[in-house]
Amino acid sequence: MPEGRLRLGICGCGWVVRNCYRPALAYLQPEFEVVAVFDPDPSARRFAAEAWPLATVCDTLDALIAEHPVAVLVASPNAYHIDQALPLLEAGMSCLVEKPVVRGVSDAARLLAAVAPGATLVSGVACRYRCDTRLWLDHVKQIQPVTELEMIWTRQHGIPSAKWHLRRDQDWTGVLADLGYHLLDIAGAALHWRHDELEVLAAAATSQMHGTAAAWYGESHLISYETDDRFVATVRLGDCRLQLQVSWIDEQPGDLVRLRARSPHGEALLEGLFGFSDNRRHAGQRVVLHQYGHDKPQETSFDPGPRLQRKAFENLLRDFHHSVQEVGADTSDELRFIAVVADAMRAKCR
Ligand SMILES: NC(=O)c1ccc[n+]([C@@H]2O[C@H](COP(=O)([O-])OP(=O)(O)OC[C@H]3O[C@@H](n4cnc5c(N)ncnc54)[C@H](O)[C@@H]3O)[C@@H](O)[C@H]2O)c1
Repeated sequence: MPEGRLRLGICGCGWVVRNCYRPALAYLQPEFEVVAVFDPDPSARRFAAEAWPLATVCDTLDALIAEHPVAVLVASPNAYHIDQALPLLEAGMSCLVEKPVVRGVSDAARLLAAVAPGATLVSGVACRYRCDTRLWLDHVKQIQPVTELEMIWTRQHGIPSAKWHLRRDQDWTGVLADLGYHLLDIAGAALHWRHDELEVLAAAATSQMHGTAAAWYGESHLISYETDDRFVATVRLGDCRLQLQVSWIDEQPGDLVRLRARSPHGEALLEGLFGFSDNRRHAGQRVVLHQYGHDKPQETSFDPGPRLQRKAFENLLRDFHHSVQEVGADTSDELRFIAVVADAMRAKCR
C-alpha cells in the first residue's frame, strides 16, 4: 500500500487538466505529487513544465511509465482512454480514467480484466461527485424503490470545440459519450447499478451538423461537425422507467440540468445546471425532496456558479486517493451498468 503523497502521472494535459484537475491538485498537495506528465503536443508540455516544475515532462506514454507513478490520471481524447489505461493497469498502476471510460460490454470486460492485483480503477465522472448530486442521490435513497427517472442535460449552444470532439469516432464522441455518460452514471448510482430486466423502449441519436461552440472552451463561433449532438432514450430497468435526454444544441433558450426521481413514496428533484456554462435556463440551483405524507417539501439551494463543478474534481481526486491507498474501489458494477445500458441503447438506434 503506497504511503504518504501519491506519485501521480498525468496522461493528456488539455482543457480538463488545466481548468479542473490542476486547481484541485493545488489543494491536494498533501495527497498528490505530480511526478510525470505526458502529452504529444509541445504547447501542452510547456504548460505542464510551468504548472509542475518538479515533474518529468514526457512525449511518450512509455516515458511516463518509466517514471513509475503509482497512479495515473488518463485525460487524453476519448478514443485513447482504453488503449492507454490497459498497459497502465496491467503494470499495476492505479488509474483515474476520464469519462467516457467504456463504450460497451467489451470495453468494460477488457479494462476490468487488466486491473493487476494492488491496482485500482476509478471512473472520472465528476458530476457524481458534486455536492448537489450527492444530496439528490441521498434523497433518492429515501424514496426507494424508484419507478421513474428523468435525466436531462440540454444546452442551447454548447458544442465542445476541440477537433477530436467534432468527428464521429466509433462511438467515442458525440453527446451521449459526453453529457450522457455523466447522466447514465448518476442514474446507475440512483438504481444501485441494477440492470437486470433491461429493455430499451426508444432511442434516437441526431445531429444538426453545425452549431455554436461552447463559450467556456474559448471563442464562441459557428462550427461544423459530423457527430451526434442530441440523444434521447426511454429505457425500462426492472420496475423503473428511465428517460434520458442530452443535447449540445437546443432551440429552447438557456442550458438546463434536471434530474427527477419518482416513487410511490415521493419525488427527488435536482434543477439547475452542471459544468461551466453561464447560460442558465434557471437562475437557481436547487435540490428538493418531497416525501408524500410529509407537510412540506425540503428544499436546499446551492451556489449556481461553476464552484460546485470545480469542487467535484477535488472530491473525485480525494476518492481516488483513498481508493488507491485502501485498494478498496470496486468499480465493476458501475462500468457494467453503463456498458450494458449504452450497448442496448445504441443497438436500438441502429
Ligand atoms: N469530467 C468532466 O467534466 C470533463 C470535462 C471536460 C473534459 N473531460 C474529458 O477529459 C478528456 C480530455 O478532454 P479535454 O476537454 O481536456 O480535451 P483537450 O482536447 O483540451 O485535451 C486533450 C489533451 O490530450 C492531448 N493528447 C492528444 N493525443 C494524445 C494521446 N495520444 N495521448 C495523450 N494525450 C493526448 C492533447 O494534446 C491535449 O492536450 C476527455 O475524455 C473528456 O471527455 C471531462
